[in-house]
Parts: sequence; structure tokens; C-alpha cells
Amino acid sequence: MLDWFEHEGHVCIVFELLGLSTFEFLRQNHFLPFNVEQIRHMAFQIFRAVCFLHRNQLTHTDLKPENIVFVCSDYDLQYNEIRECKEKTLRSLDLKVVDFGTATFDHQKHESLVSTRHYRAPEVILGLGWNQSCDVWSLGCVLMEFYLGCTVFPTHDSKEHLAMMEKILGPIPPHLLKETR
Ligand SMILES: *[C@@H]1O[C@H](CO)[C@@H](O)[C@H](O)[C@H]1NC(C)=O
Repeated sequence: MLDWFEHEGHVCIVFELLGLSTFEFLRQNHFLPFNVEQIRHMAFQIFRAVCFLHRNQLTHTDLKPENIVFVCSDYDLQYNEIRECKEKTLRSLDLKVVDFGTATFDHQKHESLVSTRHYRAPEVILGLGWNQSCDVWSLGCVLMEFYLGCTVFPTHDSKEHLAMMEKILGPIPPHLLKETR
């Protein structure tokens, strides 16, 4: 935090100026996926940041491409012959994890519904309680999205969402189904 001030009754916090979020970059780049080499470089940094939170008894709860931001999103343009469009290639893949508005310490009240739909872990959907593991689920969804260029579970319905998970990962363990309402 560099500074803070009040504006029309709202507390505003001043942070360093970063580049585009990974979501906004994908959008401006025709949703062309990142390559595996790029994803590996990005994943390493994101894991390091999230590992730091988890070691400090925190769960982010809202990891998604909008909250993973390039430090600088300057790019070079190259013609992509397969897709027949101009592809942006970032000069640096340095990232930061942002938005701690819903980050929760282990000892704090855990809201029953957390995360943005597409990145929500099955135990959250099933109302079974959650911990740091729900961040790991979200990160899996984020990395798949970097690889595909689009969301891995495109749905707005919880039952359909669980069905899509089962299609990829197999049946939800019976003991979890027994516990859920
Ligand atoms: C965290 O949550 C997961 C999923 O509900 C559960 O399997 C795991 O045992 C929990 N870990 C701890 C340390 O409570």
C-alpha cells in the first residue's frame, strides 16, 4: 500500500500501477491461449505467491484470471499464420496476485459461498466448508484457462457445474454426497 485517501465517503487505497490482468490480456489477444512454456513460468510465480498466503494461515478465496495481473503488459505483435490474426507476445511474464478483499484467515468466519462461479471448488458448491484447498482448485481452473484460452467449466448452474466436474474427474466421492444437503 503506497497511500490511502477518502473520496465521497469511500476509503481508497493506492497501490503500484500494474499492467493488464491475465484475463484482459487474453481478451485483447483474441483469447489465444498461452503456450506451455509461458504457463510454466506464470504458474511458478502464482504458486509462490499463494504458498506464501497459505503458510500465513490465509486463503485468498477468489483466485481467477482477473486477479492475476502482469507487472507490465508491453507486447510485440506477430502474425499467427494458423489463426490468421496478429498475435500479441508479452515481453515479460512477471505477475502479481491481487484483490485481498475476501482473503480469510483460518481463525476468521468462513462465508459459506466464496469464489467466482467458474473457479469455485466442489466442496464450496456442496456446502461442506472450505480451507486453503479451495485456492488450489481455483488455480487448476486458472491454469487450464491459460492453456485453453477459455474457461474450463462454462456454466452458470451449480448442478451442471458438478456434472462437468464429474465428466472430467469421475464421480464425486459418495461420502461427500452423504454429507451435503
Ligand atoms: C481442507 O478441505 C479439504 C476439502 O474439503 C479437505 O479434504 C481437507 O481435509 C481439509 N484440510 C484440513 C487441514 O482441514
